Amino acid sequence: MRSFHKNKQPIYHLDEWNIIEKEFQKNNNDRSETIFSLGNGYIGMRGTIEEGFQSDVAGCKGSYINGFYESEEIIYGEYQYAFPLWGQTMLNIMDTQSIELFFDDERFTMDRGHLETYSRVLHMKDGKVSRQFIWQSPTGKKAEFNIEKFISLKDIHITAFQLSVRPLNFSGIVRIITSINGDVRNENLRDQALVTKEKGIVDNAMYLLQQTKKTKFDIACGMMHCLKKEGLESYFNPQYFIEEKEVKACWEIKVEKDQLLILEKFTAFDVNRKYETKKVLENAIKEVKRACKMGYKELLLRHTEFLKEFWEKTDVIIKGDLALQQGIRFNMLQLLQSVGRDGYTNIAAKGLTGEGYEGHYFWDTETYILPFFLYNNPEIAKSLVMYRYNTLNNARERARELDHPGALYPWRTIGGEETSAYFEASTAQYHINADVVYAIKKYVEATEDKEFLVNYGVEVVWETARLWADRGGFIPMRGNKFCIHEVTGPDEYKAGVDNNCYTNYMAQMHLYYAVELAEWFKKEASEKYLELKRKLELQEEEILVWKKAADNMYLPYNEELGINPQDDSFIYKEPYDIEGIQVERLPLVFNWHPLNIWRYQICKQADVLLLMLLLSEKFSVELKKANFDYYEPKTTHDSSLSACIFSVIASEVGYKNYAYNYFMQTARMDLDDYNNNVHKGLHTASMAGAWMCVVNGFAGMRVFDEMLHFKPYTPEKWDAYKFSILYKGRRLTIEVNQKETTYTLQEGNKLSFYHYDQEIQLCSENNRIIVGNN
Ligand code: BGC
Repeated sequence: MRSFHKNKQPIYHLDEWNIIEKEFQKNNNDRSETIFSLGNGYIGMRGTIEEGFQSDVAGCKGSYINGFYESEEIIYGEYQYAFPLWGQTMLNIMDTQSIELFFDDERFTMDRGHLETYSRVLHMKDGKVSRQFIWQSPTGKKAEFNIEKFISLKDIHITAFQLSVRPLNFSGIVRIITSINGDVRNENLRDQALVTKEKGIVDNAMYLLQQTKKTKFDIACGMMHCLKKEGLESYFNPQYFIEEKEVKACWEIKVEKDQLLILEKFTAFDVNRKYETKKVLENAIKEVKRACKMGYKELLLRHTEFLKEFWEKTDVIIKGDLALQQGIRFNMLQLLQSVGRDGYTNIAAKGLTGEGYEGHYFWDTETYILPFFLYNNPEIAKSLVMYRYNTLNNARERARELDHPGALYPWRTIGGEETSAYFEASTAQYHINADVVYAIKKYVEATEDKEFLVNYGVEVVWETARLWADRGGFIPMRGNKFCIHEVTGPDEYKAGVDNNCYTNYMAQMHLYYAVELAEWFKKEASEKYLELKRKLELQEEEILVWKKAADNMYLPYNEELGINPQDDSFIYKEPYDIEGIQVERLPLVFNWHPLNIWRYQICKQADVLLLMLLLSEKFSVELKKANFDYYEPKTTHDSSLSACIFSVIASEVGYKNYAYNYFMQTARMDLDDYNNNVHKGLHTASMAGAWMCVVNGFAGMRVFDEMLHFKPYTPEKWDAYKFSILYKGRRLTIEVNQKETTYTLQEGNKLSFYHYDQEIQLCSENNRIIVGNN
């Protein structure tokens, strides 16, 4: 573990169910905006301080809709054949969060005057953020504030906000201004993407309709309010103002000392993307009226009921380690808040919490994030694998652009097209095809969803298999082994290499699965097989080639070192003492020229070790240990996808300290800002990796031959931990303490699994067993 990652101190107060900021520091505003983000997989909003600031404070007021993007032409210094022409950027949409508040003519902002009793809390159980404080203005006016907001996980078009303010030592005029402001830009786009099409007010619902210039997607927003004084039934209507790109509501109200003023604000969004045609403006107005009629309390209740079920199914309990309990819950909530659930949207590397990576989806989904949903909420997992089916045509086109048959999935995308300008660490990562197929295989295995496999999954498996057959070759100087050259593996610090170990093994798994499915279809679904063969123009000879390539795949192993070389050249590169690199020069990707990064034995992230997790049964524990010893001192973990894999493998090979420390780094990566980049958004792959550290690491869960296997132990510092798994329709709860493990079959009839070498069978009559840990 790199020394600069050690001993990070918590930034926010430790608590089981809450993230608490006890002191407002404007210098941390941009980081806290990310941490206090809210979302529901459709809408995401950064934790903007609604009233803004009067001094210069770094931040990015961001609101996003999953899958809603603009394309801009990529400007190349030196364009080359088949480089992607268009980028895609998840748009920062109209600002509905900002609010202005004045006491007489004095504007309230937290960077002026004085704050007493401040706290901001992300309530993880309820999925809401609250801010409570007493503020004293520069001229001595004191008021008590209570601000709360959430984005409904149940009513996905709706967000709700509530402001309560009580003057403590004065009576006067309170002026409040809210707005839908369409004059918003993204940091990374050259042009302002959204053009205002319609704006206005109907039945007290403010609205704004905009359209993107290039992609021609529509977005509509409706906003309604309810402003009351405590104890009074009637509410106050605002004055409305319609400006060029903004619709505003303004109230001026006389408030007495100690009188509470309560503003409820509801917003609804709807969008039309390339696969949709809807009356978005009508829908947004209809939804916001429905929200306003229901009211804040009722909406919140519906939202928290959704979360109650989520936590009941998904929670991971860690006893005796508050920091990690908080960390893992934060990660799980943020994953839920970020994930698209409609089969057309996915989960971005930064979720819906920032503009880093421009809102792109990566292999992060399949390799890191999918397991968390698959074994907890398989319907969400299904929508993630469906996303790849729904973008298969784009993958086909991309393969054609590169003169290949079949399909090649994009490394970075939103809409399905490749958008990365830097092919060395994108297009060259052909392993994405195998990652997608691995996810499909795991999905089908864990859910037995044959309907998905037959109607969607298999087409992806075969089309992507075709690419491998063309992309590799039988090389005479390697004894006619099937080699795959000029690729980048997961470790982006070694670009354009031959025979990346991860890629070759995963391609082999992919090709064998493609062959296995062909056999299965021939026997079990012969008509469908013929239909698909016709549709894909698939020849029997192709399947023979897949088998031949898989049987003869070149699988790197070095006898002398007793390890799996990451690629053909890695072990011959110059060694480098990475502990000697100054912290300011990390991550290397931003501070060294690629040629210098590539020429040393330095890894950005887990590569061979990741393979040892995904295809665990292919490697002995001794070999995993040897590889851990070899790669650990060479890895900077400049990618947030790394630490979790090191933790899982460390657990397996018995390096308990490494396992714990890498888990700490993973689970608290964002809360403690390990890589000093949280202001750009959260790290969703690492967040899901934290779940893997517990389930695959400490509990040692693996699945092979359609059976669950566990090898649980409890880290020294903990008393116990507990989680559940849904596998083939059975829900199993696993509770591990220092001595023993309790398995309880919560749902389903019968389940057999392994605890170390012992086979256990549970059924509904006999649904619990306690066994000793080895
Ligand atoms: C990593 C990739 C990852 C991407 C998005 C990069 O730094 O090297 O593996 O897909 O971040 O999370």
